[in-house]
Amino acid sequence: MGGVSEATATNAESFNYKVVRQFAIMTVVWGIVGMAVGVIIASQLIWPALNFDIPWLTYGRLRPLHTNAVIFAFGGSGLFATSYYVVQRTSQVRLFCDKLAAFTFWGWQVVIIGAVISLPMGFTSTKEYAELEWPIDILITLVWVAYAIVFFGTIAKRRVKHIYVANWFFGSYILTIATLHIVNNLEWPVYWMKSYSIYAGVHDAMVQWWYGHNAVGFFLTTSFLGMMYYFIPKQAQRPIYSYRLSIVHFWALAFTYMWAGPHHLLYTSLPDWTQALGMVFSLILLAPSWGGMINGIMTLSGAWHKLRTDPILKFMVVSLSFYGMSTFEGSMMAIRTVNALSHYTDWTVGHVHSGALGWVAMITFGSLYYMIPRLWGRDNMWSTRLVDIHFWVATIGVVLYIAAMWIAGVMQGLMWRATELDGTLTYSFVEVVKATYPFYAIRLLGGLLYLTGICLMAFNVYKTVVGSRAVNPVVPTETKDPIKPELGMAKA
Ligand code: HEM
Ligand code: HEM
Repeated sequence: MGGVSEATATNAESFNYKVVRQFAIMTVVWGIVGMAVGVIIASQLIWPALNFDIPWLTYGRLRPLHTNAVIFAFGGSGLFATSYYVVQRTSQVRLFCDKLAAFTFWGWQVVIIGAVISLPMGFTSTKEYAELEWPIDILITLVWVAYAIVFFGTIAKRRVKHIYVANWFFGSYILTIATLHIVNNLEWPVYWMKSYSIYAGVHDAMVQWWYGHNAVGFFLTTSFLGMMYYFIPKQAQRPIYSYRLSIVHFWALAFTYMWAGPHHLLYTSLPDWTQALGMVFSLILLAPSWGGMINGIMTLSGAWHKLRTDPILKFMVVSLSFYGMSTFEGSMMAIRTVNALSHYTDWTVGHVHSGALGWVAMITFGSLYYMIPRLWGRDNMWSTRLVDIHFWVATIGVVLYIAAMWIAGVMQGLMWRATELDGTLTYSFVEVVKATYPFYAIRLLGGLLYLTGICLMAFNVYKTVVGSRAVNPVVPTETKDPIKPELGMAKA
């Protein structure tokens, strides 16, 4: 099929790498900002006085700043960078319309700056992960439409017949996020930074969590699977284990995710049958999720020895393990009786960060470490040893973070439901808070390690970019190319 192998395209000038480089750098910058805010709010949960009585620094304002910064600024920039890189490489053409691509970069940065200013000022629509007010929402819509035009425009003018599977995942994330964003943010503006949702009561909740869960499904999962499907075969120098499985689990994921949102609203006034539907679909969701994980991990068969020496591959494999763990955990938490214990506790926060730090951030680090030397025509990162140190610091950080939150969460749930023989509560709320402090301290330590890791990465990226060790003025020639469009090497 097609006939043009990706590895034959060595003329980087025919690709638009400028916008990829810009997004790649901003991924690291926003990662540091977002995680630093995470560390600050983790500290505030131990020492509430750390807001210094300044409204801008209160927990309620910094928390949405953290979530927006890590998901949309760090994760979003990483996705723009990798999707633009992958779609060009696998389609063998330059990005469609440089000007529009530049608009997506600058527009997205303005959105982020808007969030960094407006959230601490207290402007919020109050919808989780969709807190930004309507003028910023409109800009997001414009940028996203431009993104879709650039991405699908590139696919449309591709020089190979085949559309590589990573592009399926990226494409579905772009289309779905557009739909989710528009439907969930339909609101009546009251003045320039205040609006009210057009939905009310339980409908508002349902739309919000249809959005919220699919934001997890498409912004934090499907898109990162797109990354996985390109960068793991590349780094491992192996074909995807099963191309057929990748297509099957793609459709199964896309179909199943859409119905699982009500698991965020168990035991609420949402009709019972809707809650049951959400639970059942969440259990089914485990199968396509693990389909992806298994496909990624099995891609390494025959290349496991590389893990001894290749820290980039370590990032990728560990990210897949966390993907498997967090999706298993999510499906279990969606069971109503389990959710009765876990909901409102730090177990949820542990689940979130096993997905976010373990899966989303680790696969991003691995992909950036692969991409950055190639974008600047270097043979390698400035220091492979530093990549290895980053890997270990980050892994220990995630483990400390999530283990602390799991123990704290189960403890909280059990303490809240404990009753005496006469039916009175065994523990007052404040006793539960007090018992949680040691775990908050361990989480802070884990967060600090994780933040240190990305700072090391920033230093390594800086040295790589400014360094003079460019061996290939354009793109390093790859000896073996597992992503040939014809995919002849893939076992179906
Ligand atoms: C240094 C790393 C990080 C630290 C220290 C950190 C810390 C925190 C803290 C303290 C909270 C509030 C928990 C609560 O309200 O009880 C939180 C929430 C959250 N963080 Fe992080 N975080 C980090 C990295 C990340 C990353 C990289 C992501 C996503 C890619 C992320 C996504 C989230 C989300 C989605 C929530 C909301 C969770 C919920 O509502 O249940 N975090 N984080
Ligand atoms: C099979 C896949 C998954 C299922 C079935 C699932 C299920 C769940 C459940 C049941 C909750 C708790 C809802 C509650 O009690 O309020 C939850 C929360 C959450 N999950 Fe997952 N999860 C999955 C995968 C993931 C992944 C991979 C990530 C991140 C990359 C993630 C991010 C989140 C976030 C951010 C929340 C907190 C939402 C909030 O309350 O603010 N989930 N998930």
